[in-house]
Amino acid sequence: MAVSAREAALIRASFRSVHDRIVPASRDFYEVLFRRRPDLRGLFRSDLAGQGMRFMSTLQVVVDTLEAPDAVAARLRDLGHSHAALGVKPENFEPMREALFEVLGTYLGVGWDAETQAAWRKAYDQMAARMIAAGRAL
Ligand code: HEM
Repeated sequence: MAVSAREAALIRASFRSVHDRIVPASRDFYEVLFRRRPDLRGLFRSDLAGQGMRFMSTLQVVVDTLEAPDAVAARLRDLGHSHAALGVKPENFEPMREALFEVLGTYLGVGWDAETQAAWRKAYDQMAARMIAAGRAL
């Protein structure tokens, strides 16, 4: 089920505010993820500063797929396939979400309120479920 118009507005507003600080936010994201889950470090082969599983890309995919997840089904299916091929497991999506949300909380401060968090969670989980389903179907 797609997110509501209000949830989409909350997500877009918070995304804009992190977008302006995307370089430090990306760096912080990797620090947080690997502090929480050092075992996931080995999945990332590229230079983290330059490319890789970009924080920005992930947030952008969430934002792009908000109201019309069916319109981006093919993109999420491809991402699901590429991630399964990289060795990403279904259970890895939860620590990824928690690291993303910790960084969003740091950057948004009081703006990271319960309603905004719930909206992000719905959008992230909807997107992750599609990627996971595609990866399983490989
Ligand atoms: C939550 C949804 C996720 C989205 C939207 C997402 C998005 C992306 C994107 C756009 C890329 C760039 C390459 C490409 O286009 O295929 C990428 C790469 C990658 N992602 Fe994700 N990702 C997600 C979840 C995860 C999770 C849970 C993990 C594992 C913990 C992960 C690990 C990786 C790795 C290892 C790469 C390759 C980069 C490298 O080799 O350094 N991703 N991801």
